[in-house]
This record gives sequence, C-alpha cells and structure tokens, in this order.
Amino acid sequence: AAGNALPRDLEGRRVVISAGGTREPLDPVRYLGNRSSGRQGYALARVAAHRGAEVTLVAGHTAELVTPAGVRLIRTGTAEEMRSVMLTESDGADAVVMAAAVADFKVSAQAGYKIKKSDSGPEPVALAKNPDILSELVEARAAGKLSASLIAGFAAETGDPSSSPLEYGRDKLARKGCDLLVVNAVGEGRAFEVEDNAGWLLGDDGTETTIPHGSKSLLASTLWDAVNRRLAHQ
Ligand code: CTP
Ligand code: CA
Repeated sequence: AAGNALPRDLEGRRVVISAGGTREPLDPVRYLGNRSSGRQGYALARVAAHRGAEVTLVAGHTAELVTPAGVRLIRTGTAEEMRSVMLTESDGADAVVMAAAVADFKVSAQAGYKIKKSDSGPEPVALAKNPDILSELVEARAAGKLSASLIAGFAAETGDPSSSPLEYGRDKLARKGCDLLVVNAVGEGRAFEVEDNAGWLLGDDGTETTIPHGSKSLLASTLWDAVNRRLAHQ
C-alpha cells in the first residue's frame, strides 16, 4: 500500500510461519480444537511480506482472516498434518516461526463412523500425545536433516504460585532448544481472542527483551527485527 514506511529489510529471505489452531478428529464430524484465532501468525506473515520476505504461511483453523498479499498459504488440519508440512517447507528457510496453537494431544482411536448417542456411552475419550513440531524442527536441524537459520517459538504462560510467566518462558526456551521464544503473559484479558499481546522475547544467547503491550503487528515487527539482527551475525 502507498505510504508504507516499513523497511524492505527481509528482501531475499524466505520465512515459514505456522498460525491458528490444529484440530484433532474424534469421528468424521467432530474434533478437539482450541480458541486460537491465527491473528498473531497472520500478523507475522503480513509484516514479513511487507518487509520483502518470501512468506509461506501454514495455517490450521483460524478466524476469518484475509490472506496477506503475496503470501503463500497452506491449510492444515491435524497436528500431524502440520508437522509434515512444516518439516518439508522449513528446509532451506532463513526463519521458521511456530505461532500455531498445536494440540498437545490427539484422540488415540478416531471413530470411523459418527459416534451415536445410543452407543453404550458416554465413554471416556482416550488421548495420545501429538508430535511436538517445534522440538522436531530443532532436532531435525541438529541431525543435519533440515537447514533453517533461525527457529522461533511462542509460549503463552499464565504463571502460577510457584513460577512467573517469564520463568516458565526461560524453561520452555531451554526445553525446546529453539533460537528465539516469544513469551506472552496471559490472563488480564491478553493473548487469546484479543488484539494485544505483551511479554518478552528470549534468545538462546541469553538476551531478554521486554515486548511492551501493543498490537500483534508491533510484536511481529519486534520479532522480525530480532530475526534480522541474528541473521546479520550468521
Ligand atoms: N508446539 C509445537 N507442537 C506441539 C506443541 C507446541 O510445535 N505439539 C509449539 C507451539 O507452536 C509454540 C511452542 O511449541 O511455538 C510452545 O507451545 P506450548 O504449548 O507453550 O508448549 P508445550 O511444550 O506444549 O508446553 P505446555 O503446553 O505444557 O506449556
Ligand atoms: Ca501445549
């Protein structure tokens, strides 16, 4: 658009971003899902494209959002579908950002037919662990099976009486082994289904930057600034 003052500092970079929530089928007509709108991932994609990047957006279920101009959109359903697309698309990328809300669990035995009310039930639903896509991307890179200069994740933390959101964020960064982690403090009307996020950007080099309360576009700009700084040093 005219009057857009964003720098074209991601020109020549290829970035892959996941967005939205995965859905895990229970039977052919039902699923387990989550409230992710996809807005943060779409904001990342829009800002990256404005700044000149070649953008692939891998989207699970989202609110009705406009696909940003120039962005290649790939739709996925389950966490396993998203994993396979992310592993393929991320190879050779300059930056990969997992902004999707991936279901931690799937239904262990999906019913082949619509579950009927009259079937002996209600039966408890058995769950099984889903793949951790972010960890797998990091592991694949460490094993030399995937080349990606930077891998970033997101964490939404409420904290609890024993740990603050920032402490949980530091633990998560170490556990996931990614290069950058955006930690959002949730509660007080932030993050889910609202426009504004606030938190910290943690780097595996020990850097910790506060991200002021602001729009998802602002958070996106902050992340791309950090990505650019890191890519410049590689
Ligand atoms: N993530 C992922 N695959 C999963 C779960 C999460 O790739 N199965 C990614 C998310 O996209 C996000 C990051 O990992 O970038 C952190 O997600 P989060 O749910 O906060 O972390 P978990 O390891 O699932 O920990 P928990 O939910 O127990 O806090
Ligand atoms: Ca999780």
